Amino acid sequence: MIEVRMATLGDSATISALAQTTFKETFGDLFRDPLDLQRYLKATFSIEKLTRSLQKDNNVFWIASFDQVPIGYGKLKLHSPSPLLDSDKAISQLQKIYVLKEYLGHKVGLALQAQMIKRAKSNNSTLLWLSVLNNNTRAIQFYIKNDFIKVGEHTFTIGKETFDFDVMSLNLRTT
Ligand SMILES: CC(C)(COP(=O)(O)OP(=O)(O)OC[C@H]1O[C@@H](n2cnc3c(N)ncnc32)[C@H](O)[C@@H]1OP(=O)(O)O)[C@@H](O)C(=O)NCCC(=O)NCCS
Repeated sequence: MIEVRMATLGDSATISALAQTTFKETFGDLFRDPLDLQRYLKATFSIEKLTRSLQKDNNVFWIASFDQVPIGYGKLKLHSPSPLLDSDKAISQLQKIYVLKEYLGHKVGLALQAQMIKRAKSNNSTLLWLSVLNNNTRAIQFYIKNDFIKVGEHTFTIGKETFDFDVMSLNLRTT
């Protein structure tokens, strides 16, 4: 059975493991230099970093489990305006949504996303936005299916790699 629950400070090691594995599974092949990937994983998904992140009031994490085994996670950043969108305090960011490869396509992403939308709405956010690598077809299809629309583009550099991202947003007033 799939379950989604809100994460607590005690979940930093679980999220760190999930985050590193899912990032490698999804984007590992895009790095020509393994050191760039290794440095990024350490800087972004270490237990220490996630512990600090879990302590911030405007971050909310969820963990999805299958038969009690953690298989995915999501991170919502409340009050996260984007320079690409109208500046508005009531904007939240769907910052991470990652499911282990073995469990893709079983509506786990959908279950995580539903919690994030519910929480953003209860926080009175009017808009939910995200960045997605512009060749991540699976994720883009998933967001389109859930009524996100493309509203902009930007790049992001990790080590020697520069990636192109689409910015997508969901109108929470009509969702
Ligand atoms: C994006 C992601 C969270 C979606 O979660 P998921 O559990 O796989 O998606 P769901 O099972 O809820 O599927 C919903 C929709 O996704 C799309 N999808 C699912 N499997 C797909 C596949 N093999 N190819 C293309 N699209 C697919 C479909 O539109 C699907 O709808 P359908 O089942 O009615 O056809 C998940 O695929 C994932 O974790 N991917 C790797 C990490 C990632 O890219 N994260 C997003 C970074 S921005």
